[in-house]
Amino acid sequence: ARTVTRNEDGAVTAGGLDVARLAEEFGTPAYVLDETDFRARCRAWADAFGKDADVFYAGKAFLSRAVVRWLKEEGLNLDVCSGGELTTALEAGMPAERIAFHGNNKSAEEIHRAVEAGVGRIVLDSFQEIVRVAHIAQSLGRRQRVQIRVTVGVEAHTHEFIATAHEDQKFGLALAGGQAAEAVRRALQLDGLELIGIHSHIGSQIFDTSGFEVAAHRVVGLLKAIRDEHGVELPEIGLGGGLGIAYTSDDDPREPHEIAKALSEIVTRECEAAGLRTPRISVEPGRAIAGPTAFTLYEVGTIKPLEGLRTYVSVDGGMSDNIRTALYDAEYSVALVSRTSEAEPMLVRVVGKHCESGDIVVRDAFLPADLAPGDLIAVPATGAYCRSMASNYNHALRPPVVAVRDGEARVIVRRETEEDLLRLDVG
Ligand code: LLP
Repeated sequence: ARTVTRNEDGAVTAGGLDVARLAEEFGTPAYVLDETDFRARCRAWADAFGKDADVFYAGKAFLSRAVVRWLKEEGLNLDVCSGGELTTALEAGMPAERIAFHGNNKSAEEIHRAVEAGVGRIVLDSFQEIVRVAHIAQSLGRRQRVQIRVTVGVEAHTHEFIATAHEDQKFGLALAGGQAAEAVRRALQLDGLELIGIHSHIGSQIFDTSGFEVAAHRVVGLLKAIRDEHGVELPEIGLGGGLGIAYTSDDDPREPHEIAKALSEIVTRECEAAGLRTPRISVEPGRAIAGPTAFTLYEVGTIKPLEGLRTYVSVDGGMSDNIRTALYDAEYSVALVSRTSEAEPMLVRVVGKHCESGDIVVRDAFLPADLAPGDLIAVPATGAYCRSMASNYNHALRPPVVAVRDGEARVIVRRETEEDLLRLDVG
């Protein structure tokens, strides 16, 4: 879905449907999500990791009831990180044992609900939480399966805000200095907990597996120390998510089966060297599944050429439906989709309609010089962290998600209305 495809008549299509017709029917801005592609990516990950590993889709990338059903049908598990995601997952029928619950500050109420529902695992992120989950589980007469999230001290080569395994940040318990080992000691003593593994997530939008290699090496070091100190071999190792996607081209980075092979080789090698049985691996891709499956459809509003600089093209959305450019300096591409044009390319910046100059959707791109108000443009690769991070800034109405498949379109998340906004405003 990343580069726009045209049929013989020059019309841009998605899921077999003319994109201009979709805009007519569902309005703009809208996220158009290719269900076939989403399902295929789920299957590719599930198949690649096979029976000896677990793939959890990271729901934070984009979650809705339909997505939960697709995951369920295609054999994936689900990682949630809030009560809201948990409710969506359970409501839509994801079996609780296929859910993992993450987060650095889960509330007692969220933990209670997760344990009561019977989630497959809770990933513990602090000393307080170890005690809290143990107490809640005990009060419910349960023994909750848990992993402990550790920070391995890896510098993932990605934007600072999305790198998570260096030590000076809020997630996990540090391996260095013995925090992680102490967390294991405490967790093993508590009756309410069944410690099944160690978890590490090194960051997002990562392209090479060397960070995972270092992470696996260090986590296996901890597994060995646990065996030596406590006489137990933990059966699981969680390597998190974070595999990058190509945002501005069609060059898919490594395929899931290559990643599965690389990760399993790394873990097996490290465990052999440490004299441990190879644990079961789990991974949590979010972006790599959802990201490429959707594009955002906008209508061009005003066009402002700045002599010698560039042309500012304003669309009917902006940072409220895609905060990633403003937040991470993320790169996107854009294409004219409502017609073909032979006009010369002009340098543009696609901006939104919000009241600030940082409201940029696509920083640098080319569009035909005859671009006009009313034209439709599409920004590909917006399936992950766009709808899920959308806001009501300036009382913008969050766009719908339209799923397309085999020539049919259906709204899976409807467009917000002003009534929706006012319903919350009870002053
Ligand atoms: N597992 C854990 C524990 C995570 O924290 C995350 C992402 C994932 C898995 C999934 O990572 P993925 O495979 O999607 O990269 N909002 C940002 C990225 C922050 C992601 C936070 N955690 C973005 O728009 O790029």
